[in-house]
Amino acid sequence: MASIPGFGMMALLSSWACILIGCFSVSLGEEAASLSALYPPLWDRSPGQFSEYRMENGKYIINPWIYPERMGMYKMLLTQTARYFEKFAPENEKNILWGLALQHGWQYSTGRLADPSQRTDCGYESGDPLCISVDSWWADINYFLCALPFLAAVDSGIMGISSDQVILLPPPKDQMKFCVNVSTCQSSFPTVMRKWNTFYKHVQSPYSSFEDLLRYLWDAHTKTLHDVLKPFEHRLVYYSKAEADFERIWSVCVEYIAALQVPTTLIKMHELQKGLPPRMLVNGDSAPFISDFSERQNMFLFGLSLIRDVNSWTGSLSLTIWKILMKTQIARQQALEFLEMILEKFNPTLPE
Ligand SMILES: *[C@@H]1O[C@H](CO)[C@@H](O)[C@H](O)[C@H]1NC(C)=O
Repeated sequence: MASIPGFGMMALLSSWACILIGCFSVSLGEEAASLSALYPPLWDRSPGQFSEYRMENGKYIINPWIYPERMGMYKMLLTQTARYFEKFAPENEKNILWGLALQHGWQYSTGRLADPSQRTDCGYESGDPLCISVDSWWADINYFLCALPFLAAVDSGIMGISSDQVILLPPPKDQMKFCVNVSTCQSSFPTVMRKWNTFYKHVQSPYSSFEDLLRYLWDAHTKTLHDVLKPFEHRLVYYSKAEADFERIWSVCVEYIAALQVPTTLIKMHELQKGLPPRMLVNGDSAPFISDFSERQNMFLFGLSLIRDVNSWTGSLSLTIWKILMKTQIARQQALEFLEMILEKFNPTLPE
């Protein structure tokens, strides 16, 4: 009898897995024809090397509060690590750092980097469209998923400059919350920086498998979120209830996605993002019934909120169990394949 509740839990978890499917698909179709079509917005306008940034007193100066400059950090990171991912696929397609860059592109194109308090024109089409607002929750969390992996790469020697040769400009306010160079980020986030360094150490090793690298990447990613989500919770007051709720849901669900070690390659990430809300949520938006969202976007959002609900009903016991279930590569692979299969049912077409 004792095994029945366990079995029920398994069934429950697999039904969440069905729900998560919004994310994953392998149907590449015509997209594989031109990978550059999948690059994030304004990729061509973003610097791809340090020499395209300003230099003062022997230091490169990057302003991460301007979209192309922040995206340029990802571009340099992807370029400099390309040689280590060649063994997995041509054209850097299987570089798992694409996930972060594409995520940032989605934030930009959906208006999530703009000033949510609307006190400034930062990030708005009518004002300063490339500006990244320090009041944006998405922008703040992303700062640490950009600055820390970037500076750790500098520290690891991958970027071809020394640790004291680059500095990030602070935002116009709350400057104390944001570390700006290798040494300040190491003293504010010692464990996180160490985890990113560990990731790069394995990236550089010829013996690392693709799955090894994914594990180190997700480990560094979740540790980063652990350290930064709390200090920025107060930013949620600027948002509609629907969007703030989505931000909270996202913070919980990313842990489930991390345990699944989703391969954040260019193609997979692009597919995954088709399920994400294509604009900011406004009050009255209620998945799965949002009329201007595709079926996949509605199901994805609905699925995420269900996961969050079960997570809170079970006092996050469900996460513990999910992590245990997803411990082996076989289980993760089966879960992913299952999701991909069901995904085909939800074509990312917009309603007419
Ligand atoms: C790092 O930033 C801090 C704070 O702005 C500064 O005091 C320090 O000199 C910088 N270190 C380097 C190596 O640039």
